[in-house]
Amino acid sequence: MTLDLFDTLEQPDQRQQQLTQNAFVLRAFATPYVVQLLPALAAIQQASPFRHMVTPGGFHMSVALTNCGALGWTSDRRGYRYSAIDPEHGRRWPAMPEIFLQLAQAAAAQAGFNGFTPDACLINRYQPGTKLSLHQDKDEQDYSAPIVSVSLGIPAIFLFGGHQRNDKALRVPLFHGDVVVWGGADRLRYHGVLALKEAEHPLLGRQRINLTFRKAA
Ligand code: SIN
Ligand code: FE2
Repeated sequence: MTLDLFDTLEQPDQRQQQLTQNAFVLRAFATPYVVQLLPALAAIQQASPFRHMVTPGGFHMSVALTNCGALGWTSDRRGYRYSAIDPEHGRRWPAMPEIFLQLAQAAAAQAGFNGFTPDACLINRYQPGTKLSLHQDKDEQDYSAPIVSVSLGIPAIFLFGGHQRNDKALRVPLFHGDVVVWGGADRLRYHGVLALKEAEHPLLGRQRINLTFRKAA
């Protein structure tokens, strides 16, 4: 999406919001992609369904997840890791659809990160009551690449904190179509999602889907 100068001057906060030096919310950036994202997402779910993974501590995660791309993020009693194989059936994760890649690259570039080549897309599914505790994305080999996070469906409050778990976190409401990009000096900031409120989205029903693009290898 290109913004003309008038839009930018007229509505500076509504389109692009800077959270910290290298972290941005791109409001509704994914909206033009949604009609193509949803069927691609349905095909991924068929091949590798959402599941509640177990943490190394033995708890089931509140968020359900799946992956697409060459590598997928997984968790079990032995730890967190990236794997080319979906442990559910022993075959590769579904390939990353071209439209996913285009969206991730365009959003990264809009936030100042040119040449982003994600090899992993973690797909999180939240229902009302689901939350994601504060954590750092640090299982990737390459911290020079940003994280691109796409929100679809019902709203959520995203927490964007500091480099210590106890640092005060910004509370950022995220809506269908919003994209958050963080990298550079902000790449390892703690972040999470508050428990979702009851809501219904016209396209996605009682759920929020988050696509998180990373360069894992
Ligand atoms: C994540 O940190 O993996 C997901 C963040 C979100 O759902 O917005
Ligand atoms: Fe994360």
